[in-house]
Amino acid sequence: MIPAIAYGGDYNPEQWPSAKVDEDIALMREAGVNLVTVGVFSWAVLQPQPGVFDFGWLDIVMDKLHAAGIAVDLATATASPPPWLGHLHPDTLPVNRDGVRLGYGSRQQFNPSSATYLREALVMVRALAERYAKHPALKMWHINNEYGCHVHESFDAESAEAFRQWLKDRYTTVEEVNRVWGTRFWSQQYSDWAEFVPPAAMPTLANPNMMTDWNRFCSDALLACYKAEKAVLDELTPGIPTTTNFMGAFAWVDGWKWAADIDIISNDSYPDPSDPRAAREFAFESDLMRSLGGGKPFIQLEQTTSAVQWRARNAVKRPGQYKLWSLQAVARGADGICQFQWRQSASGAETFHSGMVPHAGKASRTWAEVVELGSALSSVSAVAGGRVEAQAAIVWDWESAWAQRNAIGPVEIEPLTIAKSWHATFFESGIATDFLHPDHDLGKYKLIVVPSLFQLSETFAAALAQAAEQGAHVVVGALTGALNADGHAQLGGYLGPLAPLLGVRVVDYAPIGVTPQPTEIEAGGALDGPDLDAVYEPISSLVKTPATRASVPLVAADGSGLGGNAIGWVEELEILDGAGVLVKATFDSLDLPGAPAVTRRPHGQGVAWYVGTNPDARGRGDIITAVLAEAGITAVLPVQVPGVEAVQRGSVLFLLNHGDVDAVVPQLSGTILYHGAPPAPAGQVTGQPAGGAVLSGGSVTVAARNAVVLQL
Ligand code: GAL
Repeated sequence: MIPAIAYGGDYNPEQWPSAKVDEDIALMREAGVNLVTVGVFSWAVLQPQPGVFDFGWLDIVMDKLHAAGIAVDLATATASPPPWLGHLHPDTLPVNRDGVRLGYGSRQQFNPSSATYLREALVMVRALAERYAKHPALKMWHINNEYGCHVHESFDAESAEAFRQWLKDRYTTVEEVNRVWGTRFWSQQYSDWAEFVPPAAMPTLANPNMMTDWNRFCSDALLACYKAEKAVLDELTPGIPTTTNFMGAFAWVDGWKWAADIDIISNDSYPDPSDPRAAREFAFESDLMRSLGGGKPFIQLEQTTSAVQWRARNAVKRPGQYKLWSLQAVARGADGICQFQWRQSASGAETFHSGMVPHAGKASRTWAEVVELGSALSSVSAVAGGRVEAQAAIVWDWESAWAQRNAIGPVEIEPLTIAKSWHATFFESGIATDFLHPDHDLGKYKLIVVPSLFQLSETFAAALAQAAEQGAHVVVGALTGALNADGHAQLGGYLGPLAPLLGVRVVDYAPIGVTPQPTEIEAGGALDGPDLDAVYEPISSLVKTPATRASVPLVAADGSGLGGNAIGWVEELEILDGAGVLVKATFDSLDLPGAPAVTRRPHGQGVAWYVGTNPDARGRGDIITAVLAEAGITAVLPVQVPGVEAVQRGSVLFLLNHGDVDAVVPQLSGTILYHGAPPAPAGQVTGQPAGGAVLSGGSVTVAARNAVVLQL
């Protein structure tokens, strides 16, 4: 069994003299570490030459960890092949879009479609599995590492062949590919399978549906690598669960498709501590991971104690944030908190990435916080296995996001940013949310938000209508249903099959905040002022340019109090039967005065809302507040306390104060499992968790950047 709640990190003893292992293990025990990921980047050490293996050091590490009661998440080490592999078999090295073969000396230099890479990777996996199958420390397999992080595609001949096969499997005939890709445009029609090649460098805009298929293929090619490793492990070590670490909603792997083959979902997350919105990021990713696992607990497999080293400027976590964000992940469904990495490296590309044991050693704030978190996690272990019950869900679909990103126009809006902004509204309002794939059962939710589903199928439109029929509130955001299931433009009005449910037809799109590009302005590269000269420019000076303001006010149409601003994007809506207009906007335009922006249409037992713009925080907040009130969904806390995120998991309530001032949370009943003391001023920890106190309708003070956890 994997310990719950697991605490630990990537342990890379091969980077250090062997004598350090005993010291490491003593420190791990001091910190309460009970799970370490070993060997993520140790292929070159485990197999220094073809056919030559050195497991001696790993045997010792595994034995010692086990003797200390520390479980091992053993990595298959295949993420970073040794130099000999690339040297002997250049075909294992990926080729980039420009035809350049990427070299070794960094990491992840493998071509996902290389048969040689896979063969050699499986030799490594088999050797590890055979050697450690019966080792009592082995509790989980960590397959590869962050698939696709640096290399998610390769443009070599082997990948081309694999892509052709993938297309044959998906479409059966060349004609069908031609139809879906719309190859009559620009004379792209194919006549034979042999003509299909990966979309490497080309003169100008690429065929969008070709690109989306390429994205699907690349995700599938990586998934095939994962599955091949898992098959060996399942054969040799049945019962030992496997994981591979996701990176949130990382663009290049379709998490929903992958999740089905992952025993324990795990995630890596590195929000920027300099961003006041960083905790939203952790919340978003945690909710996504929990949802990928169908509600089961996940493991936060990587985060860091303080700063990363790969941003231009690397903010350190402020005192308390490491623990606070870790408890946040636990609150939202994590049964394990692990970091990259145990001991901060003394050499190599990540020397200045923080670790649990920093360069400064034990006499450091980092170490004090590492020990403090270990103790906090053990105080809240009662939450392990618990579920977060959400009544609201957000639809997220990687395939639609690919289609939207690959579409050329109508506007550059990143679908993930839109999804995150709606999630942020729920985060800020204290409402739990799950994520959903369009094929999932919508039945259990009172509220379903579709932030922006560019490519929409009739099946999903019917499912949404059925959910509303049965009482759900359905909120659909702009840029939904631009494409049909084939990835072709929705004819007859965007939203297509959703139009009857919403009572809205999108007749046209109109970005706002549009100014002429410098190259389209006269010589000099910039307009010489807001007004053209009526005397010398008598023609142009009489032309209005309506849509230049990027943000325009949203105005309540019926005195409902909804407000905020529309940013960057509007739609020309035709209101159909049954829909009422809640919010209008004059989109900085003489052409769309007082245009409908937010609509509401009762349907069956439920209601369908349409938001035909990209509202700002207030706009989204007002809409969601109105919808929540109608849907009867209430926040976790009866009174929202500024700075405090409240999350209930099972019967455990987490109060997480992200603010810089202490917060008092009233009307609480339960037994305190953990009461974090205020952050220590000078690199030490003050106070201990004051567990055991019982509250009955009383209040509790949650210190700044700290947490209180209650058993309800
Ligand atoms: C992850 C990776 C780790 C480490 C970490 C640093 O992408 O899996 O090995 O590089 O980032 O932030």
